[in-house]
Amino acid sequence: MPQRPYEIDEMISAKSIAARIESLSREISTEFSGTDKLIVVGLLRGSFVFIADLVRELDLPIEVDFIEASSYGDGMESSREVRILKDLRAAIEGRDVLVVEDIVDTGHTLKHVMGMLRARKPSKLKSIALLNKAERREVDFKSSWIGFEIPDEFVVGYGIDFAQRNRNLPYIGKVRFT
Ligand code: IMP
Repeated sequence: MPQRPYEIDEMISAKSIAARIESLSREISTEFSGTDKLIVVGLLRGSFVFIADLVRELDLPIEVDFIEASSYGDGMESSREVRILKDLRAAIEGRDVLVVEDIVDTGHTLKHVMGMLRARKPSKLKSIALLNKAERREVDFKSSWIGFEIPDEFVVGYGIDFAQRNRNLPYIGKVRFT
């Protein structure tokens, strides 16, 4: 489907993202200090840049794993029905787990994934989302840590796409149709 032309206006600079990750990492390192080996779980694909930067700031023994859940397809509307396309390799019973997400929007995706993981009886389960669109929430869900609260705008960059484009922008920008 041909894309309507659009421009991208910077919303959060690469520098602000880096500074926020540094401070969140300190909180996370404190929360999980003493953990044997934290499993950091990225939700594919939108969190791949965030998780890469986050784990390099964590002063903890960690391992990295991924889950892929279906959400937006190629459009701008959430599908609401969450399907797991790729599950964890690791067993998490009795382990400490941190789930890393790009955006909490309606809340369906992270609520579903956290419920699924909680049923596997980890000893501690927390989540971090780089961005939160609180006004868009449809289900009761609150992430343990949030990078930035943002308004109801469609954003791209820093791993986040619009129909698979713009993931490689170093900053977060909002889509403006021209
Ligand atoms: P939720 O289930 O509605 O909370 O959707 C979460 C997922 O929708 C995120 O992980 C993103 O992949 C996608 N999403 C939500 N808002 C945006 C956006 O502004 N730009 C790109 N993807 C988004």
